[in-house]
Amino acid sequence: MLHLTAPPPLALYIHYPWCVRKCPYCDFNSHQASGEMAEADYLAALLRDLQQHLPAVWGRPVHAIFIGGGTPSLLSPDGVAWLLSQLRALLPLLPGCEITLEANPGTVEQGRFTAFRQAGVNRLSIGVQSFDDALLQRLGRIHTGREAILAVEAAHCAGFDNLNLDLMFGLPGEDEAGAAADLRQAIALAPSHLSWYQLTIEPNTAFAHAPPPLPEEEALWAMQSAGQAILATAGYGQYEVSAYALHDREQERQCRHNLNYWRFGDYLGIGPGAHGKLTHCASGKIERIWKKRQPRDWLTATDGAAMIAGRAEIARDELVLEFMMNALRLVEGFDTALFTAHTGLPLSAATAPLQRAEALGLLQWDTRRIAPTARGRDYLNDLLELFLPEG
Ligand SMILES: C[S@@+](CC[C@H](N)C(=O)[O-])C[C@H]1O[C@@H](n2cnc3c(N)ncnc32)[C@H](O)[C@@H]1O
Ligand code: SF4
Repeated sequence: MLHLTAPPPLALYIHYPWCVRKCPYCDFNSHQASGEMAEADYLAALLRDLQQHLPAVWGRPVHAIFIGGGTPSLLSPDGVAWLLSQLRALLPLLPGCEITLEANPGTVEQGRFTAFRQAGVNRLSIGVQSFDDALLQRLGRIHTGREAILAVEAAHCAGFDNLNLDLMFGLPGEDEAGAAADLRQAIALAPSHLSWYQLTIEPNTAFAHAPPPLPEEEALWAMQSAGQAILATAGYGQYEVSAYALHDREQERQCRHNLNYWRFGDYLGIGPGAHGKLTHCASGKIERIWKKRQPRDWLTATDGAAMIAGRAEIARDELVLEFMMNALRLVEGFDTALFTAHTGLPLSAATAPLQRAEALGLLQWDTRRIAPTARGRDYLNDLLELFLPEG
C-alpha cells in the first residue's frame, strides 16, 4: 500500500476523435469525419462517460480542462458552450480554470473563435505545423501558411491572449533556414506559448508505410540548437522538451494542463481512447483507466462502465519510472516532496538510479530539487532507462 496522504491536483481531458482529413504523420486517435456521429449524441455520451467518475473525485477542484483531438474546433460553439455549462454543474472548476481547445487553421474563422471565447474557452492551441505551403502539402494539411496566419490573427482579435501554436521541424525536405523561418514567422504573431515538436515517424501511419525523405541527424541537431537560440532571444523560455512560454509572463502562460501531467497529477479522460489517472488515498493505490478507442464502440456503449476498455493499478515497481518519464521532461525537474506526495513512495525508492544519473552528468540534485542537466535533456531516453524496474 502506498502512503498517499492527499490526492494531487485534478485535470480533465476531453477527446474529440474527428478531423477533416487524416494527416499522414499522425498517430493520435483521430479519424476522417464522415458525418456518422451526430454532435448531440457525442456530447451526451461525454457526460455519460464523465458521470461514472464523479463519485471517485467528489469535491476535488478541477485545475484545467483540455479539449483535444482530433480537431475539436469542428464542434459547434453552441455545443462547446453546452458542454462547458454541464461540466460547471457537475464539477467544481477552480476560479480561472484553464480551458483549452485545439483548433486546426482550416476549420475556423473569426466568428467561431469569438463564440468559443464567449462559451468559456480561455486558451486556444492552433495546429500550424509550418507556414511553408510546399511543406504543408507534403504533410497533408488542409490549410495554407496564409490561412494559418489569418487563424492566429483571428484568435488574437477574439481575445485569446493565452494562445499556443503547434509547430513541427525536421519535415520532409526542410533545411535549417526553413525551420528558422517558420519559428520567426510564429514569433512575429506573438503567441504566448509555442509547442515545437520534432517530426517523428510513428508506426501505423501513412508515413511509416511510405517514409518520406527526412533531414539527416546532423541537420536535425543544427535545426534544434538554432531554433532554441531563436526562441530564447525572442523571450520564449523552454520549460519542457517541446514547450516554450513567453518569459515575461512565463508562470501564467505555461500550459497548466500539461504541467499537471508532467508533475504526475491526476486526470480524468473522457471520450474515445482517452486515458485517465486517479489516486485513491484510502486504498493507497494509483490507477490508470482507458476508454474504448474506436469512436463507435465508445459511443454505442450502453453505459459509462461499458465505455471503459481497461483499468489497472500502477504497480509499485513501475511508479518510479512513470513519475520520472513525466517529471524529467521538465527543465525545472521536480521537488523531492512532490515525488513522495504524488507517488506515495519514499525518495529512497529512487535514490540508487538518481545517484547513477547524477554521476553520469545527466541530472543535477540540489538539496530538494532534482532536474535534468542540458545533457540529460539531450539524452532523455538514456536518462529514463536508468529508472527501468529491475528484473
Ligand atoms: C492533436 S494535434 C493538434 C490539433 C489539430 N488536430 C491540428 O493538427 O491542427 C497535436 C499536435 O501534435 C503534433 N504532432 C502530431 N503528430 C506528430 C508527429 N508524428 N511528430 C511530431 N509532432 C506531431 C502536431 O504539431 C499537432 O498539432
Ligand atoms: S495532426 Fe491534427 S488534424 Fe492531422 S490527423 Fe492528427 S489530429 Fe487530425
